[in-house]
Amino acid sequence: MKARVVAHRDFSIGAVDPRVYSAFLEHLGRAIYTGIYEPGHSTADGDGFRGDVLDIVKKLNIPLVRYPGGNFVSNYNWEDGIGPRESRPTRLDLAWRTRENNEIGVDEFARWCEAADTEMMMAVNLGTRGHDAALGLLEYCNHPGGTYWSDLRKRNGRAEPYGVRVWCLGNEMDGPWQIGHKTAHEYGRIANEVGRAMKGFDAKLELVACGSTHNNMKTYPAWEAEVLEQCYDTVDYVSLHSYFENYEADTQNFLAKSVVMERYIHTVVGAIDYVKAKVRSKKDLYISFDEWNVWYHQRRQDHDKFSTWDWPLAPPLLEEIYNFEDVLVVGCVINAFIRRCDKVKIACIAQLVNVIAPIMTETGGRAWCQTIYYPLLLASLHGRGEALHLFVDVPTYDAPAADDVPYLDVVGVHDAQTGTIALFAINRHPTEALDLSVELAGFPKATLVEHTIIHHPDLQAINSADAPNTVLPRSQTGTLVEEGSVRAKLVAHSYNLIRLSV
Ligand code: AHR
Repeated sequence: MKARVVAHRDFSIGAVDPRVYSAFLEHLGRAIYTGIYEPGHSTADGDGFRGDVLDIVKKLNIPLVRYPGGNFVSNYNWEDGIGPRESRPTRLDLAWRTRENNEIGVDEFARWCEAADTEMMMAVNLGTRGHDAALGLLEYCNHPGGTYWSDLRKRNGRAEPYGVRVWCLGNEMDGPWQIGHKTAHEYGRIANEVGRAMKGFDAKLELVACGSTHNNMKTYPAWEAEVLEQCYDTVDYVSLHSYFENYEADTQNFLAKSVVMERYIHTVVGAIDYVKAKVRSKKDLYISFDEWNVWYHQRRQDHDKFSTWDWPLAPPLLEEIYNFEDVLVVGCVINAFIRRCDKVKIACIAQLVNVIAPIMTETGGRAWCQTIYYPLLLASLHGRGEALHLFVDVPTYDAPAADDVPYLDVVGVHDAQTGTIALFAINRHPTEALDLSVELAGFPKATLVEHTIIHHPDLQAINSADAPNTVLPRSQTGTLVEEGSVRAKLVAHSYNLIRLSV
């Protein structure tokens, strides 16, 4: 099979916002406790943060980490997690039927973010709480001093404000499972009122309103229109979530699901434009895709487990083990964010450690990288710059999830500062290699820096603590770059990064 791609120096979609390489950490399972935090672990620092995990996280160069939930946030009292640890209460978390002892709260998490060279993206509880809790937390985090909450932060050991810029107004409020679930009208109103008060404190805050939890929700896409009619001029982003599954064990259909997600983005952009016209606004709104990943390997078993268990503290939950097939899906999803960089400004892989995560830990033991860590790593390291508007000519296939799925999913990112182009290319074909030719108009002196491939003959191949290197990026030979064009062979079912110096 052949694919012809044309990239032109002058045709770009726009700048890729580095925040599309962000992540999510929730007080859920072992994400926080024995994930990022395990006092007594051989690598733990003075705060109890695992150094082995920090090292792996830092390599990803993650701009934002969304916190503290997720479903958890909708019944969370942030005040429980500040001040002397011995006086912090243990509470029931009704979202996951666990106990939360509040050993980690906003101050500790902020310290972890500093150690990990990343920033907090904070969610406020609009389930069981509202204005008061959100405004108190904002003042605690961002006000310099001389008020109740900011002085309390100082007494708790942090003199300078944290300056949290991006705030999520609740989580998945369209979902009947959400504590404090609301209708679109109810949610739009509270998002607008809380958001207006927050912007009254600081007009430069960036606020994220909940969009649809996924594109199968009964209320999608009317939810977006109705919510935004209430809060369009107050908020800056609409939050979307997608989790991909392959219960049918149909790889070609699984690989089509990023195309469905791209159409979901397209539809929500349409809803945003509709409301913009309706409310006669000049402002543009963008998308924060703040939860996405593959999630199905353990999902049903986990649901049975947590719906009956007896309120354990940080139990193993949602500990998906990812395979090579998932690498291809994750690669296609990230490509979709790059292609829609005109509208998608933030995206958070859900989650970061232990819970549906690229990084795993053993309690008291090793930390290791799952298969899906690697496409995220390569994109975060090399997918920064201007996304090129590519012409792509390649055969397509029809799947139950979507028709016209291209066998080649490819994006190109031009980084003028380093003088490089990164092409991220996934061959969706199950059996045929793909002869790729890329014409580089306006880049006559291009040379090859690397062709890195992630491939395994077994789609089910996994990494584990004992065998962490089963699925890894490796160098591919045979790729030619001459006279402004690239010729490469992309192995069937493979993820490829071709980097050029231009
Ligand atoms: O990431 C796991 C859960 O998935 C989050 O708590 C929730 O927001 C979503 O449904």
